[in-house]
Amino acid sequence: MSPAPTVLVHSTADLVAHACAARLVTRIVNSQAARGTASVVLTGGGIGTQVLAALNSSPARDAIDWRRLDVYWGDERFVPASDDERNERQAREALLDQVDIDPSRVHPMDAADGPGGGDPEAAAQRYADLLASRSTPDDHGPVPRFDVLMLGLGPEGHTASIFPDSPAARDKGTVVAVHDCPKPPPTRISLTFRSLQTAEDVWMIASGESKAEAVARALGGADPVQVPAAGAVGRTRTLWMLDEAAASQLPSSLRPR
Ligand code: 6PG
Repeated sequence: MSPAPTVLVHSTADLVAHACAARLVTRIVNSQAARGTASVVLTGGGIGTQVLAALNSSPARDAIDWRRLDVYWGDERFVPASDDERNERQAREALLDQVDIDPSRVHPMDAADGPGGGDPEAAAQRYADLLASRSTPDDHGPVPRFDVLMLGLGPEGHTASIFPDSPAARDKGTVVAVHDCPKPPPTRISLTFRSLQTAEDVWMIASGESKAEAVARALGGADPVQVPAAGAVGRTRTLWMLDEAAASQLPSSLRPR
């Protein structure tokens, strides 16, 4: 049973992004010191990309050994590789193209014009196969035990590309194709809860008043099928990093002391 989430609240979205970036450096460096390697799962969305830009501008950025880091994505928009909507493209612009990362250890999900031939189900299966190929006996399953998996959430409670009351929220596999998403683009590839919950640390990052209700519902014990952000739970640690606006509907019992 993983411990209860830790909730951290900072005054602004910018401070959340920089605080998360600082925490990410430390977490990756610690993993690399302990295991000789580290793995991180990135999220799309505004605040998720802000974290990467904050990490890129951090004086501590290169404390990370970029040659010993595996980078995955929690979800991806199923659009052509050159489309600015691609989470991978935004992550490369914000950070990955600025550091000496080992390109063989960057694992994007297929683009719509990629090898899967434009079939999102085939692309989801390919990513599931990749995850299975990267897992070790110590992972005890078909998904690597990621060190840190970052997520955002939507106003109605989606996380990654798992939307409320959707097939993805009930999927028992590891990676799923998602159609008719309420948040454009409509077709996506997403890790499932089973994969998200394999991570040692799950960090939910949110800012803005529009997320406040979903944050309160997710932390207040909602059913993850109805509020998928409630399913953002790490094996060892679950951290919610919020700005004051996103935390504004949290009861005092759920706010940091
Ligand atoms: C995506 C994301 C999605 C995002 C949330 C929050 O690909 O769109 O993975 O889950 O994290 O919708 O996005 P914002 O931070 O832009 O509100």
